[in-house]
Amino acid sequence: MPSKFPVMSARERTPLDPSITPAQIIHLVESFYSKVRQHETLGPIFLREMGEDWGPHLHKMKHFWASVLLKTGSYKGKPVQAHARIQGVTTDNFHEWMDLFEEEVYAIFSPKAASVVLTMAQRIAQSLWLAMFADPFASPPAKFGGRGV
Ligand code: HEM
Repeated sequence: MPSKFPVMSARERTPLDPSITPAQIIHLVESFYSKVRQHETLGPIFLREMGEDWGPHLHKMKHFWASVLLKTGSYKGKPVQAHARIQGVTTDNFHEWMDLFEEEVYAIFSPKAASVVLTMAQRIAQSLWLAMFADPFASPPAKFGGRGV
């Protein structure tokens, strides 16, 4: 049985920006993945990996972002390993992922909080990109803190 979200009381959360709330994280995850689901190229990748029931993934992602942005420590998982085994993802897919994510973040968070959320997303995307495209001659896209591609 998945634990309830958010699992921590307000006193136990330390947001990276004081305006970030659990409700915004729930909104972000639900609206972002509903767009991913309809996306021409990202949708089929997720569908192939997770099937029709995205509930457990969304639950996990709420805890992931709560752990990153509110420091709840409620996500337990290994994103690098989880992505390293997904086949057929391209650098273009990473750009598509980040463009969609950016759109949702700007729609939900204050401008200052949005910049904090996107900095964290870019750092994580960079490590996932490196895990998926491990190539000593390539550098992550500039958008993810690299020199290009
Ligand atoms: C094109 C880019 C991406 C694709 C196609 C992708 C795809 C996926 C898929 C299919 C899963 C589910 C794996 C499973 O349940 O077995 C997953 C999990 C996950 N993704 Fe991504 N992802 C992408 C980028 C990102 C980025 C940029 C982030 C964070 C900033 C992220 C964070 C996560 C996390 C935290 C999980 C859960 C891992 C776990 O604990 O099992 N992903 N992703």
